[in-house]
Amino acid sequence: MGDVPTVTTAAYITGHGSPDAIRVGELPVPEPGPTDVIVRTEALAVNHVDAFVRSGSYRTHTPFPFVIGRDLVGTVAARGAGVAEFRAGDRVWCNSLGHAGRQGSFARYALVPVERLYRLPDAADPGAAVAVLHTAATAHIGLFREARLRAGETVVVTGAAGGVGSALVQLASFAGAKVVATASGRDAEWCRSLGAHTVIDHHDPQAMDRVGEAVPEGAAIFWDNTGRNDIEAALPVLADGARIIVMSGPGSRPILPVGEIYTRDVSVHGFVISKASVADLRSAAATINALLAADRLHARIGTTLPLTRAADAHRLQETRGPQRPRGRIVVLP
Ligand SMILES: NC(=O)c1ccc[n+]([C@@H]2O[C@H](COP(=O)([O-])OP(=O)(O)OC[C@H]3O[C@@H](n4cnc5c(N)ncnc54)[C@H](OP(=O)(O)O)[C@@H]3O)[C@@H](O)[C@H]2O)c1
Repeated sequence: MGDVPTVTTAAYITGHGSPDAIRVGELPVPEPGPTDVIVRTEALAVNHVDAFVRSGSYRTHTPFPFVIGRDLVGTVAARGAGVAEFRAGDRVWCNSLGHAGRQGSFARYALVPVERLYRLPDAADPGAAVAVLHTAATAHIGLFREARLRAGETVVVTGAAGGVGSALVQLASFAGAKVVATASGRDAEWCRSLGAHTVIDHHDPQAMDRVGEAVPEGAAIFWDNTGRNDIEAALPVLADGARIIVMSGPGSRPILPVGEIYTRDVSVHGFVISKASVADLRSAAATINALLAADRLHARIGTTLPLTRAADAHRLQETRGPQRPRGRIVVLP
């Protein structure tokens, strides 16, 4: 495999558990199959789902020792004989490792099936890019595959200043939608800078009334990133035919006012990016790359840690309250 070493530093688990279960040490670099690529990683990111996979709360095949992590940006170090699309030194990214039997990205050298690898636009910075890969792909799948967003429609995004929310505001605005966001007051300017038409403080007890005033036309899409999933509160601000996206808050048990939903042609769409097809991910990647190349897709980076502190990165990801970094957690190998 050319100048690829036989072992790599990696963050891995040998069983599900708390962040204390994460070890950092040497593991063999996998031998690439004919359609695999070995990527020398440059930047990695932590998402909520990484904690769910590590703890076992999201059930997926994790052959132990299991390298954690879903996203990477890096350069091609070696490729299988059947890989024609990439060559050594190409700058690339992936956002679908670390679940469904695939080892994760948290290593200096990681194996990526070529069908899950995309070219990184020349202008993109690895740390800035890795911070949007999971969130923007999630936003893309929900907006376009599930909700079938059309230009000119209105999208309401609650929890808009977080990772997925920020990506949603940018993708929906870029697609020609009017975006009405709810977020903490301190995040209003951030949401506006991403393209939100109106931002409402989600600590305001009348926040949903304010949303209603901002969308007299009715929202075509309602997307909750907070895990509350208060469908009853959302219904008054929706247009007939609206699509509600549910994708967070696994323990929430919202009231479902069935009569109002079916008589108004409202639909509720649940999805998880972990089950997205290679085609879905590729379609999202095309949009992500177009936006990265145009410098129109940004995330706030809350903190950057070395790979040796992968367990701390997971602890921070799971922290609630003021100690939680306001932005993505990026890890450098
Ligand atoms: N289904 C999927 O495929 C998929 C993919 C990615 C993520 N997710 C899920 O989507 C959710 C968002 O992910 P993320 O990466 O964007 O998380 P994040 O960066 O932590 O952002 C969460 C946002 O929700 C807000 N929030 C949290 N609790 C709230 C509450 N009780 N009331 C009002 N706002 C609240 C936060 O606002 P403040 O900062 O003001 O607290 C923050 O802006 C997570 O639950 C994640 O697990 C699902």
